[in-house]
Amino acid sequence: MSDKNETCSKLLEMIEKRTARIGIIGLGYVGLPLGIHFGRKGFRVTGFDLDSRKIDKLLHGESYIKHIPAGAVKELIDAKQLDVTIDFSRLQETDCILICVPTPLTEKLEPDLSYLLNTTETIADNLRIGQLIVLESTTYPGTTREMLLPRLESNDMKVGRDFFLAFSPEREDPGNQKYTATNIPKVVGGITRSCLDVATAMYNAITRAVPVSSTQTAEMAKLLENTFRSVNIALVNELKILAHKMDIDLFEVIEAAATKPFGYTPFYPGPGLGGHCIPIDPFYLAWKAREYDFSTRFIQLAGEINISMPYYVIEKTMEALNKHRKSLNGSRILVLGVAYKKDVDDDRESPGYAIMKMLLGKGAAVHYNDPWIPKLHTTRKYSFQMESMPITPELLAEMDAVIIVTDHSDYHWDEIVEHSNLVIDTRNATKGIKENREKIVMA
Ligand SMILES: NC(=O)c1ccc[n+]([C@@H]2O[C@H](COP(=O)([O-])OP(=O)(O)OC[C@H]3O[C@@H](n4cnc5c(N)ncnc54)[C@H](O)[C@@H]3O)[C@@H](O)[C@H]2O)c1
Repeated sequence: MSDKNETCSKLLEMIEKRTARIGIIGLGYVGLPLGIHFGRKGFRVTGFDLDSRKIDKLLHGESYIKHIPAGAVKELIDAKQLDVTIDFSRLQETDCILICVPTPLTEKLEPDLSYLLNTTETIADNLRIGQLIVLESTTYPGTTREMLLPRLESNDMKVGRDFFLAFSPEREDPGNQKYTATNIPKVVGGITRSCLDVATAMYNAITRAVPVSSTQTAEMAKLLENTFRSVNIALVNELKILAHKMDIDLFEVIEAAATKPFGYTPFYPGPGLGGHCIPIDPFYLAWKAREYDFSTRFIQLAGEINISMPYYVIEKTMEALNKHRKSLNGSRILVLGVAYKKDVDDDRESPGYAIMKMLLGKGAAVHYNDPWIPKLHTTRKYSFQMESMPITPELLAEMDAVIIVTDHSDYHWDEIVEHSNLVIDTRNATKGIKENREKIVMA
């Protein structure tokens, strides 16, 4: 039954006329493209971030994410369609607030909701009648209802009557040219019927909304999607190790299997998982499951296999060097690609770093090249002080081995193989290379 009241009808009308102002909290890989998308669809957008350097750049019409062109930002800033600020009291000017802050794991692999809870407190302090709040950050089922709702209702504001609360998972795939915010459907769950109605109307204005019965369903849908990926990647990673022992090319196997027109989706093995989603999100579900005395065995197993892959790359590298009467200790190794996937500048949770750390730990001299990441910065886990080395025939020839971690489109594989002594290919990037195949080891 609908609980639509005058406040709800007014917001629906503003969304329909695109006079509703959209507020986006957290202008990172998710929030910035989303803000641009709403702006292009005719909404006025205010972006909020704690990082004043990001805000300064945006105000100057610059972008800090490589695959988002500065022109896209500048155009909207100049047209006053997009405004950005660190002043969170301006949340009161907005009608629909979308939360896109990080939801990482703690060192003990437990959900770290600190960013989300800080943001919720800030929204609660500024909440006014008639606003819609949507959580887009990935999280475990129950977060919106259990963690956000009580905090937002604490000032005598009633959900579904005074304000609206929903969850809609972000499905952004950075760098994907085919599927962008314009054509990726948005699953939406509301706390009440009117919450669902306003959130659905807002997303229908920019893409296709897929309403579901609760916020928990929408939260779980996102975790199903990413757990599905994690488990399937683990499956092919495990099979890759077996296929090596059996002297079968698993990539060829996958291409063959993928000709089946139904019931099979190809996934590809690699050096391990990276990025802000697949290595992290399934653990949110595993953590919540413990509250129900339930052990998510697929998630644990997939995690174990995927985490072991960088070790496997090291093992294959040592074996390959050994065949050349060399030890890893003292060898010069060039790592190609530290972004977690091709053609993006995102290096979060990159398996490249796990590989580099192990190489250094075993006494190798390590260099890297990544056209998308010119310099390495200290992170919570790693502190490499390195700059990307330009790839030249001389550099390649000096290296005892080159490890392909990320198959960026800019790389010229034929030249890389030609000038290298040994190539450890974790991505099947060199599959088209006919010459010098004896130098290539697949890991
Ligand atoms: N990156 C992806 O491909 C992707 C895809 C789908 C879903 N997600 C999910 O979206 C969420 C955001 O991810 P992201 O990749 O955009 O992260 P990000 O680190 O790129 O961006 C987060 C931004 O939030 C800002 N921030 C942190 N705390 C804040 C606060 N209290 N108030 C305002 N701003 C704050 C940070 O400064 C940063 O700019 C996460 O839950 C993630 O799991 C990410």
